[in-house]
Amino acid sequence: MRFDLVSDVHQDIGWRGRPLGTGECDTLVLPGDVGNRVGVTAGVVAALAGKYRDVVFVDGNHEFYSSSGALDRTRDLLADAFPVNVHYLDRGGLFRVGDTAFAGANGWYHFQAPRGGSFGAQSGWWSGRSNDARLVFPGGDPRQALDRWEESKRTLFRQLETARDDPAVEHVVVLTHSVPHPGGLVDGYEPASSGAFYNGLFDEAKDAGGELLDKVRVWCFGHTHHPAFFRDRSLGRDIWFVANPRGYGHERHNPRRNRTIAVDVEGPGY
Ligand SMILES: [Fe+2]
Ligand SMILES: [Fe+2]
Repeated sequence: MRFDLVSDVHQDIGWRGRPLGTGECDTLVLPGDVGNRVGVTAGVVAALAGKYRDVVFVDGNHEFYSSSGALDRTRDLLADAFPVNVHYLDRGGLFRVGDTAFAGANGWYHFQAPRGGSFGAQSGWWSGRSNDARLVFPGGDPRQALDRWEESKRTLFRQLETARDDPAVEHVVVLTHSVPHPGGLVDGYEPASSGAFYNGLFDEAKDAGGELLDKVRVWCFGHTHHPAFFRDRSLGRDIWFVANPRGYGHERHNPRRNRTIAVDVEGPGY
């Protein structure tokens, strides 16, 4: 099975209404940061849902920039606005197409990025410097983000258990908005800032045992606006990690910006 992938569409940051270039697969995977306002995200996702049979979505931090801390209310508004062929994984459901299941959640942050220094250094950077600490979690208490990280972890692990126990599922694709694997973190920024990018959920799932990752082939993510494509072999087979962010209109990190890429669950190559 192949699907199109793009994250961080950021329609309202420098794209002036220019539509996203779409691909040829039936399914589009959108790992968050479509827009800063409910109306923008809902409008872009609805337009894309008109071009694809299925759209698989998890929210990003930017989806909540206009929500004044009322995250659940924003999720309700998005879910109500989305057409029926949009599958909003943060709301708890696994989505299956044939023998492939999509599992996912935003991911948020746990402030334990491997090269980011202490928990205090990483959560302190986030509280003082990140827009999330003003706009998404007013007051900037890192425990608010940590609570959401815990929620994402529960949501994702529940879905992975469902996929593991379903004999009809052979392949699992995971989506998170924030970065699940140290290989997706980018050098050249302040080390403590990596805590505001990283969710550590790949290692968490490995540590949880229970064969949660047995069927996982590909893990898509965003939040970083740098594209990524690498594999992890620590479980004795390949698990691919792929990011294809459009980013802000003025950014030039991704040579394929404004395009989706096609990813094959049985050995991505594009
Ligand atoms: Fe983004
Ligand atoms: Fe983001």
